[in-house]
Amino acid sequence: MTVKLLALCGSARQDSINARLLKVAVTAARTAGADVTEFALTTDLLPLFDEDREAANGIPAAALALKVAFQGHDGLLIASPEYNGFFTPLLKNAIDWVSRPVAGAPSPFAGKTAALFAASAGGLGGIRGLPHLRLLLSNLGVHVAAGQLALARADQAFGSDGILADAGQQALLQTCVTDLLRLTAGLHRI
Ligand SMILES: Cc1cc2nc3c(=O)[nH]c(=O)nc-3n(C[C@H](O)[C@H](O)[C@H](O)COP(=O)(O)O)c2cc1C
Repeated sequence: MTVKLLALCGSARQDSINARLLKVAVTAARTAGADVTEFALTTDLLPLFDEDREAANGIPAAALALKVAFQGHDGLLIASPEYNGFFTPLLKNAIDWVSRPVAGAPSPFAGKTAALFAASAGGLGGIRGLPHLRLLLSNLGVHVAAGQLALARADQAFGSDGILADAGQQALLQTCVTDLLRLTAGLHRI
């Protein structure tokens, strides 16, 4: 059987460096044999969570589609910018919507796996946001892989061939992905 991964980016920005980093991880996962679905998070389709809105209108179609996507995959590839030392509100909002219970539906998080990535033009690569994301996902029952990559100076880090210009960084990314696949296959007996 094939490991199925859902890829999410914490930035909807057109020229997002996190989207570029996620793409490198997606390619590495596909090359290693995984089935990867890319799901674009957008602010217009995922309104800011509000319990009154939910009570009045239910869960928005995009949030339900994301919830179904979570349920249909074994693990997650996530890349998010760091905003003031935290992962982005776009990603938090999406996770909050997905966490809302639907009668009869299993938890979309429990038993899933995740590998985390961040990219920043700064020198720390967005690494300060990742522990918060790790904690949030762990609280929801996701097994977050130990390996992660925070890509510093990301505006200069991509080669023309769609991989990271620095061979060591590319190798680290690939190790994160293959470790995630191994963890996921073991947990799900794939
Ligand atoms: C509100 C806000 C806060 C930010 N805070 C940080 C930060 O704490 N650390 C950092 O490295 N970059 C920070 N940045 C810069 C982002 O890393 C930069 O905008 C990056 O390109 C965003 O990722 P994206 O290209 O994937 O959209 C911040 C940007 C914004 C808009």
